[in-house]
Amino acid sequence: MNNQINLKEYIREIPDFPKPGILFRDITPLLAEPTAFQEVIDRLTDYYRDKKITAVLAAEARGFIFAAPLALALGARFIPIRKPGKLPFETRAFHYELEYGSDSLEMHTDSIHTDDRVLIVDDLLATGGTISACIELVKHTDAEVVGCAFLIELLFLQARHKMNGCDVFSLIQYDSE
Ligand code: PRP
Ligand code: MG
Repeated sequence: MNNQINLKEYIREIPDFPKPGILFRDITPLLAEPTAFQEVIDRLTDYYRDKKITAVLAAEARGFIFAAPLALALGARFIPIRKPGKLPFETRAFHYELEYGSDSLEMHTDSIHTDDRVLIVDDLLATGGTISACIELVKHTDAEVVGCAFLIELLFLQARHKMNGCDVFSLIQYDSE
């Protein structure tokens, strides 16, 4: 496997987006370079190949981009977590608080099996609010969360320590904003 690509070079930094003071990490240059995108999926596949993952779960929208090809590479089911009102079958919801306001995510009640070994994937680990909501949704089943995988981790927000011991793996880290 080619490990020579510096994935950070494909992340574009946009100051003051979506609001003043926020430095946005834009993944679209990476998505537009097939060798870099492929390397992301290859590195994640290598890390989880022997961990007997049966289901890869991700929250829309950006989580889907990496979770779907990773699920196929691991031979696992892909499970979409969506914003309220988007999933057509019976759903379970988890509500969580944000800095300003609150949010909610839903999953189909039949999507996780009790014997599943679940991997949760997202593009970014920032405060950990989104991934924690996904972990809570899985907690309602007897399935095991084997790990959480991210393209980018903002280390200075220290979210990995709030993951209840769940293994956290990321490909790109930032020590400071
Ligand atoms: C972004 C990103 C992660 C989340 C990370 O999603 O894709 O899912 O924020 O932040 P957190 O760790 O503080 O929760 P966003 O909710 O902006 O929506 P999107 O994926 O639909 O673009
Ligand atoms: Mg997201």
